Amino acid sequence: MVGAMWKVIVSLVLLMPGPCDGLFRSLYRSVSMPPKGDSGQPLFLTPYIEAGKIQKGRELSLVGPFPGLNMKSYAGFLTVNKTYNSNLFFWFFPAQIQPEDAPVVLWLQGGPGGSSMFGLFVEHGPYVVTSNMTLRDRDFPWTTTLSMLYIDNPVGTGFSFTDDTHGYAVNEDDVARDLYSALIQFFQIFPEYKNNDFYVTGEVLIYNGQLDIIVAAALTERSLMGMDWKGSQEYKKAEKKVWKIFKSDSEVAGYIRQAGDFHQVIIRGGGHILPYDQPLRAFDMINRFIYGKGWDPYVG
Ligand SMILES: *[C@@H]1O[C@H](CO)[C@@H](O)[C@H](O)[C@H]1NC(C)=O
Ligand SMILES: *[C@@H]1O[C@H](CO)[C@@H](O)[C@H](O)[C@H]1NC(C)=O
Repeated sequence: MVGAMWKVIVSLVLLMPGPCDGLFRSLYRSVSMPPKGDSGQPLFLTPYIEAGKIQKGRELSLVGPFPGLNMKSYAGFLTVNKTYNSNLFFWFFPAQIQPEDAPVVLWLQGGPGGSSMFGLFVEHGPYVVTSNMTLRDRDFPWTTTLSMLYIDNPVGTGFSFTDDTHGYAVNEDDVARDLYSALIQFFQIFPEYKNNDFYVTGEVLIYNGQLDIIVAAALTERSLMGMDWKGSQEYKKAEKKVWKIFKSDSEVAGYIRQAGDFHQVIIRGGGHILPYDQPLRAFDMINRFIYGKGWDPYVG
């Protein structure tokens, strides 16, 4: 019975015409298309790196201010495979607070094949696109305390492209090789961040919106319980704890189960696009996790 139910759920998800796409569209239903203007020439940074013109490349990659908003950020293309002219697009936001010490967090959207610009504009970047295609500030952007590196990955996703169909990744090795090449180049342009802590989101921390019907919290928990992994024994014994942001909060933000460095978080009142639904809870979660603050409520 459980098996049959599970199959029904999985096939519903698989048969949904592109769940992420559908969500994306429904979030943007009322957005008009931007006026077609001159968007300029794409910036390819690899030739600058190879010519040792790091400073020049860096200056060119600085993104100009948007009306009313002036957040320092850098964007451009990194060539990851010359044979096929494959290029990955990145957009980097140094942390607003103490960027010299802040961890660098690489954001890779799900999918695979979802553009990380979705994370930037919809989930936790500093900008939100309004219904008339202007930008406004987001409350609780992750870029406040973390240097966020958004990469459209793998090649073919979002702005990232290749000139040859052979340039598309066909396995995880291809994905890793291209991404690794982009990261090596990125840290050549921004060497001052090389020694900072570096996080690839999605590897250690697992989180679910409690109301997520695409990847349900209960199913995540079930697979964590059933899987054989390094922390299995400790995880199974770990107590599920209540997490509140502040001591004085009447509302519970979510629930935590921790096994060593591994944290599993269920966030109340959120669905699949969690930071969009619960910006403050998502912001608190990533900060507690990355800065190792534990899950006790703050006094206040
Ligand atoms: C370019 O891509 C091809 C096909 O995936 C691969 O065989 C080759 O090693 C890649 N070259 C580099 C420099 O990564
Ligand atoms: C639309 O754009 C104008 C500026 O051109 C701005 O003042 C207004 O608040 C925007 N509307 C929305 C819903 O953000």
